[in-house]
Amino acid sequence: MIKKVAIITNGGDAPGLNAVIRAIVKTAETNGIECYGYIEGYRGLLDNNYVKLDSNTNASGLLHKGGTIIGTSNSTNVFNLKCEENGEIVYKDMSQKCIDNIKEAGFDCIFTLGGDGTQKSGRDFSKRGVNVIGVPKTIDNDVAHTDVTFGYNTAVSVATDALDRLHTTAESHHRIMVLEVMGRYAGWIALESAIAGGADVALIPEIPYDINKVAEKINARKAAGKQFSIVVVSEGAKPKDGDIVIKKKLDDGKGLDNIRLGGIGDQVAEDLEKLTGLVSRCTVLGYVQRGGTPTAFDRVLSTKYGVKAMELAMEGKFNVLVTYKNGKMDYASLEDVVGKNKEIGAASGNTANSNIRKIQMDDPLITTARHIGINLGD
Ligand code: F6P
Repeated sequence: MIKKVAIITNGGDAPGLNAVIRAIVKTAETNGIECYGYIEGYRGLLDNNYVKLDSNTNASGLLHKGGTIIGTSNSTNVFNLKCEENGEIVYKDMSQKCIDNIKEAGFDCIFTLGGDGTQKSGRDFSKRGVNVIGVPKTIDNDVAHTDVTFGYNTAVSVATDALDRLHTTAESHHRIMVLEVMGRYAGWIALESAIAGGADVALIPEIPYDINKVAEKINARKAAGKQFSIVVVSEGAKPKDGDIVIKKKLDDGKGLDNIRLGGIGDQVAEDLEKLTGLVSRCTVLGYVQRGGTPTAFDRVLSTKYGVKAMELAMEGKFNVLVTYKNGKMDYASLEDVVGKNKEIGAASGNTANSNIRKIQMDDPLITTARHIGINLGD
């Protein structure tokens, strides 16, 4: 019988985090279990900084709230923590301190709400005897073994709304409007919002693009009397003969994805202006996609994820990720989620090599896009 559990929200924020917290807290309370939250992700676990969560006080009115009431961190790999010692940068394995903190607090299970990198650390803790249950969070929708992560639907809605608004400018000015959306190594947001927003082109990391093919599509539209076009570009998209565009190299420590992407939208807009003669403009949607109120779909999905996570804890099914597969709540072992990325402590984070779920070429979104004439740059 479990008596005390703790929640960790880690990595970039995503709409629905608070809804998951709420669902876990409510289910815990219904079943006489105490629920706590570590402050600022794995950083709070390391610093032994946690608060009691209570649906009557601090964990109330959460369903519609963006962000996370317990904070998050996306630069803390406790298995390989960047520290300064005598003026030098050193990397330390601080995981034992975290494990001691969990034991001392008496937590029977920790819920790790996060993406690929967070689940990798969760798996590493589970190998060391901690009971872990992961919940797949990311607007990028790229966590392995689950069909939909929470936060994704909201991001697609925000991007779709932006496309509707960009359409009016594109039509009025006879311009190419490029929208750069998030999606580091998977193009789910770009592709789905392109379909929802009636875009003409969608460039995704899974299909390195040929800019001449994109220009051909836009020129064909021009020849048919359409003097504007809408292009959605995933931040991780790259040309056939080029590489992803990095805005900034970070130095957050080993095992983390130390690059900030951004700039591909501008590059595409510039190239298309030259090749088509149409004026082009780029809009980078950025963090608007991650913030604010979750959609009704994400509120419900997050609630299902939270309830299932607590159910699994009560059944004693640990070291798993809660999943949503073929319309049903289920779970997969964290070991499978981590995939080939087995080494403890090393290479965690949402890196190009991690076990993320990319769009497969037979995915209905790809076939749908192709049938309705959305150019995918190939
Ligand atoms: O993984 C989610 C995500 O929003 C990516 O799409 C984006 O590249 C990244 O986080 C940016 O994170 P941050 O700037 O907060 O480190």
